[in-house]
Amino acid sequence: MTPKVFAKLLGLFVLLLVFQAVVMVFVFHQLMEQTAGGTLRLLGREILWSGLIALLVAFPLAALVAGRVSDRLQRVVEFARQIAEGDLSARLIPDNGDELSDMQAALNQTAERLGKDFTELESRRHELAAMLDSMQEAVVAITPGGFVRWSNSVMQRVAGAQIHAGRPLVHSLRDPEFLACVRGALERREVCFGRASTLVPGRVFEVNATPLPGGGALAVMHDVTGIEAAQKSRREFVANVSHELRTPLTSIQGYVETLIEDPKSSPETTREFLGIILKNATRMNRLTEDLLALASVESPDYRLTLQPAQASALVKDAVDSLGGIVVDSGVELESAGAPDAMVMADPDAMNQVFGNLIENSLKYAKSGKRIRVGARLLASEVQFTVQDFGPGISSEHLDRIFERFYRVDKARSRESGGTGLGLAIVKHIVQAHGGRIWAESELGSGAAFHFTLPLTTMNQQPAVPASKV
Ligand SMILES: Nc1ncnc2c1ncn2[C@@H]1O[C@H](COP(=O)(O)OP(=O)(O)OP(=O)(O)O)[C@@H](O)[C@H]1O
Ligand SMILES: [Mg+2]
Repeated sequence: MTPKVFAKLLGLFVLLLVFQAVVMVFVFHQLMEQTAGGTLRLLGREILWSGLIALLVAFPLAALVAGRVSDRLQRVVEFARQIAEGDLSARLIPDNGDELSDMQAALNQTAERLGKDFTELESRRHELAAMLDSMQEAVVAITPGGFVRWSNSVMQRVAGAQIHAGRPLVHSLRDPEFLACVRGALERREVCFGRASTLVPGRVFEVNATPLPGGGALAVMHDVTGIEAAQKSRREFVANVSHELRTPLTSIQGYVETLIEDPKSSPETTREFLGIILKNATRMNRLTEDLLALASVESPDYRLTLQPAQASALVKDAVDSLGGIVVDSGVELESAGAPDAMVMADPDAMNQVFGNLIENSLKYAKSGKRIRVGARLLASEVQFTVQDFGPGISSEHLDRIFERFYRVDKARSRESGGTGLGLAIVKHIVQAHGGRIWAESELGSGAAFHFTLPLTTMNQQPAVPASKV
């Protein structure tokens, strides 16, 4: 009910009726004064009475009409309130075909149009949110006042529970470089780049903050930990290769210069110098060969020629073919037994693996006098082992010895011609077979290198009945 409108309409009716009554009384009075006839006086009185009766009938009628108009207006007010509160499904029921019902129909159309536009906007908003959520990058929109306006799911993972709309950004993400970047976009209205390394332990993000046209800014963070690690590893690799090459090269250069400067040096000295030059040249040759081998096994194009092989045959081949290099060393190479289970293996690559492991045992564990090569059957793979009884490797080096150029004792390893690439090559070959490799050792008790190869499906075939064997 809108009492004000109702009161105004009713008041208007009453005013009109009162005016009519006043006019009638005035006319009646004039008639009384100008005429003296009793009939006319009677007529005048009847007119007055009929006017009064009309007044009494018209008043409730006026109240009724005013009440109905007021009700309809009240419904329009209620409808407008519902729309303002966001209920765009609200509709007016049009009454009879007057101007008010035309207005009701027009309002209904407006509400319908608003509803459609709103639904479309909502679906676009959801689409955009889904797209931003599926991004690899973390995204946060910031208000001109520095509050979080919106963030995608990656950003919520990075920032944890701290980030949510309406919260100051400085309370949500505290990396100084990130915040400086966002401030630049908010205050100077320019695109800022930076690097955030304190948001998640061990992870580095590239930050890009851009001012938004309507005020505020958008910050995008890209995880570059992997890229940075790869770049670091590449830099280290280049530095290591340069270092490894420079050492023998400097030596060769030095001895050659000495020989050139002193052509009259004794044949013994010349032979000794040439021997050193040859040793260093051989070392450089070995290094380049190892680098080529490593590049080959690390290449995505590296392909193995896999074929079924008996684990016991692989062990026997290793012992037989590498027995030669052990002969003069006073070390015994023995087989510790192996199952007949079938594994998938590339014979040449396996030769490389066993060769590197046995050569290491010979180089670093000669004092142990024995090298044992064996294998045992596990649930879905065969575990091969090359074991020695030399000085062993202390635990802090056990995982690292598979890294490129890593050597426990650099000087000793270099002395024995090692480049520190052997185990890295072995690891790649084993992993290319779908296996794992690791080392176990106790200082003073020797070292054991284990690697696994998956069993072939042949092992699952039904066993041949005993009578047919
Ligand atoms: N059986 C072992 N006993 C003790 N230490 C070992 C043994 N095998 C490897 N190591 C240690 O692991 C390091 C890495 O071995 P890796 O085979 O990768 O390199 P390398 O033998 O020094 O050089 P390369 O094999 O390229 O000639 C060695 O330098 C050595 O310190
Ligand atoms: Mg080696």
